[in-house]
Amino acid sequence: MNILITGGLGYIGSHTVIECINNGHNAIIVDNLYNSKIEVLHKLNKFLNKDITFYKIDMQDIKELENVFKENKIDAVIHFAGYKAVGESVEKPLKYYENNIGITINLLKLMEKYGVKKIIFSSSATVYKESKILPLTENMPLGVTNPYGRSKLIIEEILQDIAFSDKDFKAVILRYFNPIGAHISGLFGEDNNGIPNNLMPYIVKVAKGELEYLRVFGNDYNTKDGTGVRDYIHVVDLAKAHIKAIKAFDFSKNINIYNIGTGTGYSVLDIVKNFEKATGIHIPYKIVERRSGDIGEYYADSKKAKKEIDFTAEYGILEMCKDAWNYEKNRG
Ligand code: NAD
Ligand code: UFG
Repeated sequence: MNILITGGLGYIGSHTVIECINNGHNAIIVDNLYNSKIEVLHKLNKFLNKDITFYKIDMQDIKELENVFKENKIDAVIHFAGYKAVGESVEKPLKYYENNIGITINLLKLMEKYGVKKIIFSSSATVYKESKILPLTENMPLGVTNPYGRSKLIIEEILQDIAFSDKDFKAVILRYFNPIGAHISGLFGEDNNGIPNNLMPYIVKVAKGELEYLRVFGNDYNTKDGTGVRDYIHVVDLAKAHIKAIKAFDFSKNINIYNIGTGTGYSVLDIVKNFEKATGIHIPYKIVERRSGDIGEYYADSKKAKKEIDFTAEYGILEMCKDAWNYEKNRG
């Protein structure tokens, strides 16, 4: 298949490009380098021994984006491009709606014009309403608390509307839980410059000595040790889920939604302990106030993805920690 990968130089996108090529597909990447670097393309080309077609395009410019459809025969799209910082989305909601929703509308208009009927969309576990019942299944109530999450939910609804209007349109919505880790080669990972917001990027900076200690946001949640519990998934497993999801284009339902997680919840302190075990590096931490907007605990019910698209995560928490550190320590 010729697959257009939007945001293909980003963290999850770059890993998915590798899986696409390794599974015999052809990848065409569009990225504006807002949150990625051109070096990732050079590394991908070298690692895969390919010359991947790349367009440096801001997808907000539909004319530029149309050239990609004119110049390539696209069979399917994997749509990663978007902004993803929850906190920033609260400060700058219009920036998030304009980019995340705007570029998706541009993409969908061009897909319609050029007869491209298949899309895999990067949604998030953040679309679920806080629930006392766990694990989260795909049919549980949805509800969002910030503009980033709302942009994901609105896009899910736009896809549902298009699927209703066009019986040949096929969308696979993947709700990612918490991707961490890096490529086993040590060449690809999450590039964080400045002070990170998310747990694993913060821990690797503490391990590197660039930050003094980890702030654990609250130890009074109703969880096993009081700290927040999440379903962490190795980014390589997550990338592989996209290849498995291609199968769902052949299903009779034209919208198929899957949780992509491991089904296991780990607390913040579990992650600290596992990181220390995987790397031998001590991670000092201090318990601080809860972070506003955080939920105590959630993790995926991953049975639907297993049953319908045969996806099961293979990597465990120690590998996630080891690979995250391996990438960070080598990236200078
Ligand atoms: P990322 O920021 O590393 O990658 C996104 C890529 O999109 C970047 O390379 C960026 O330059 C590009 N981009 C952004 N706006 C663009 C535009 N207007 N035109 C062209 N390119 C543009 O993010 P990621 O972690 O790889 O996430 C990929 C997708 O998965 C995002 O949609 C994100 O919301 C979603 N997601 C991520 C997580 C996570 O924890 N990383 C969790 C759930 C969902
Ligand atoms: N945490 C800390 N200290 C930190 C950072 C995080 O204690 O410095 C805790 C949080 O309170 C939470 C857990 O670590 O309990 C995980 O936090 P992250 O910020 O790593 O991840 P979130 O679950 O808050 O959110 C992430 C993405 C969202 C996405 C969501 C579900 O940031 O964009 O996963 O996919 F929507």
